[in-house]
Amino acid sequence: MKIILNGAAGRMGRVVTELIEADPELELVAGVDPRAEAGSGLEAELAAVDAAADVLVDFSNHEATASLTSYALAHELPLVIATTGQTPEELALIEAAAERIPVFFAANYSLGIATLAKLARLAAEILPNPEVEIVETHHDQKLDAPSGTALMLAREVQAAIPGSTIELGRTGLGKRERGEITVHSLRLGHVVGEHEVIISSGNELISLKHTAESRTLFGEGALAAVRFIVGRGPGLYAMEDLVEGKGA
Ligand SMILES: NC(=O)c1ccc[n+]([C@@H]2O[C@H](COP(=O)([O-])OP(=O)(O)OC[C@H]3O[C@@H](n4cnc5c(N)ncnc54)[C@H](O)[C@@H]3O)[C@@H](O)[C@H]2O)c1
Repeated sequence: MKIILNGAAGRMGRVVTELIEADPELELVAGVDPRAEAGSGLEAELAAVDAAADVLVDFSNHEATASLTSYALAHELPLVIATTGQTPEELALIEAAAERIPVFFAANYSLGIATLAKLARLAAEILPNPEVEIVETHHDQKLDAPSGTALMLAREVQAAIPGSTIELGRTGLGKRERGEITVHSLRLGHVVGEHEVIISSGNELISLKHTAESRTLFGEGALAAVRFIVGRGPGLYAMEDLVEGKGA
């Protein structure tokens, strides 16, 4: 399977490059990154890539969304997007592209996070009048806050609590409102990624926590998405499809 990798010089781009090189079934036909150094073999712009490929994988920056979707559409390439932090306009571009090509889009490619999302939603469904706080911790170089994963978890829990709202942090005077799902972001050192969903029903509290111990798991998950999506029809695919084998 021939892969074009956008964001190839970044932390995740380097991890994914190593994973592709270690897998005889995969081939990196082009790596793209505006930080490309002379002699690195990377292209500075996606538009300059004319290699034949089976899939385009993106671990870059949300600002790449327009060039990413237009390249994938022009070349009819399946797209695996791992980048987070997209604006509503950029999300609309991704949804529009998915009407014509297969697009796998997940804020977190870890199976453990997919499991956490299901458990958190179940707990919010079972406990009466749940109060939910989500705490995420990442390294101090992360650009977007809250993390895309924390937002995904908040939306998952929100679906189980009618009338609930998602709040970002808490400040000032005022009691907690009923139905608030509050997301808190911590940025410290080299933390790869931690997400904790804390759910209280008043007299008892459940804490569900996921810790990513290495970036490799995100790369492996994205490459599992590559294998899943190549050969599929147009549509927006997510971790749920990968985990449950839906959409076959
Ligand atoms: N979905 C997941 O499981 C998952 C896991 C880890 C990181 N991420 C996300 O992946 C993205 C990259 O993370 P990272 O830690 O590797 O960041 P990073 O800053 O180390 O790397 C990003 C790279 O993208 C490049 N880039 C910037 N604009 C670009 C563009 N227009 N086209 C091509 N490349 C461009 C940068 O030069 C940089 O080398 C972030 O959005 C992060 O939140 C997602």
